[in-house]
Amino acid sequence: MEIFAARESAVRSYCRQWPVLFDRAAGCWLYDEAGRGYLDFFAGAGALNYGHNNPVLKQALLGYLNEDRVVHSLDMYTCAKREFLTVFDELILRPRQLDYRVQFPGPGGANAVEAALKLARKVTGRTEMITFTNAFHGMTLGALSVTGNAFHRRGAGVPLGHATPVPFDQAADGQPPDFQWLERLLTDQGSGLDQPAAVIVETVQGEGGINVARAEWLRDLAGICRRHDVLLIVDDVQMGAGRTGPFFSFETSGVTPDIVCLSKSVSGYGLPMALTLIRDDLDVWAPGEHNGTFRGINPALVTATAALRAYWQDDTLERETTGRSQRITAALSALAESLPGPRPRARGRGMAHGLAFDDGELAAKVSLAAFERGLLVETAGPRGEVVKLMPPLTIADSELDRGLTLLGEAVRVSVRL
Ligand SMILES: Cc1ncc(COP(=O)(O)O)c(C=O)c1O
Repeated sequence: MEIFAARESAVRSYCRQWPVLFDRAAGCWLYDEAGRGYLDFFAGAGALNYGHNNPVLKQALLGYLNEDRVVHSLDMYTCAKREFLTVFDELILRPRQLDYRVQFPGPGGANAVEAALKLARKVTGRTEMITFTNAFHGMTLGALSVTGNAFHRRGAGVPLGHATPVPFDQAADGQPPDFQWLERLLTDQGSGLDQPAAVIVETVQGEGGINVARAEWLRDLAGICRRHDVLLIVDDVQMGAGRTGPFFSFETSGVTPDIVCLSKSVSGYGLPMALTLIRDDLDVWAPGEHNGTFRGINPALVTATAALRAYWQDDTLERETTGRSQRITAALSALAESLPGPRPRARGRGMAHGLAFDDGELAAKVSLAAFERGLLVETAGPRGEVVKLMPPLTIADSELDRGLTLLGEAVRVSVRL
């Protein structure tokens, strides 16, 4: 392990929390060099919704590589891209009556966000964004400017501007009532808020600590955007591709965003890929105005297409996610109930759940105790106070139960410490 300490930058982080050498992986399991298995309830921070080395996707990838098909092509037309767009249109967009143009902005979630912010500014000719407390949108300067976390914002090294934060759903205990303040800011010519280009929102804040927005809150937000001619961007980088049940996390609310950011599990295999989906009439980019060397990496397009075919031809995965969600909710509620006060609060939607403790120290102890028992769970939230559970959607019920049992042990031992 010396080479990491000797050569890798001090910025490395997950490896400090889980200081073993991972080597192989299959489904919801990661194995270290010595062959010890770890049940993975982290799932690449949401990039592995279909598990590690999913055999169906692997087959498609190996077949593609074996035939010397094109791997790198910037944004040239390729057969792999044609196939992906055709299947994405057929299985995802059309059945949901979503008329988006697809932009390949670069490989990561932050690339999708940057493109969305730039486009919203170009379309409207305005500079300001409305953001939410505890939002997380990535590490590039534009994405950081709409991110809440003070530690990450400080890392920018320059002032971050052109964004105004307002409370996320239930962040202010209903005082003042939802959106009363925002509506006032937008209406009152003396408020000091310049007319914004867009609002950017996560329907469930992942890094922010699994804060779940209610459907009616999202609908009210969409209503305000409509009334005030402000674009609505949903950042579905972490909660898209089925994490909350349906393919897009906003589907159950009935809201149709103007722009959607996708990444993480969209390739299905943990390969880098991101999409910015744009309402047709907003696609005012000039050719090449936003570009990048790694757009539409073909192996990622191949696994993305295979994932759509394997999991999104019908609603089987969505129904299974709902069933497993109930299983997790029941287990976490029972666990919280069984503890002496102050009890952690269980929350979540689909297969994104959190156990919110009063302080980050206790949550860190739980994460460590879980790791010692062979379970990977990370912490989230502004003080790291939320133990976050995001197992692969394809996990078997027996593996899910095993992970929840290990988590229960980890919590009990940590609460007593
Ligand atoms: C909602 C959301 N948006 C954007 C990002 C940034 O994605 P990336 O780390 O791939 O740049 C993340 C990463 O966790 C995220 O959760």
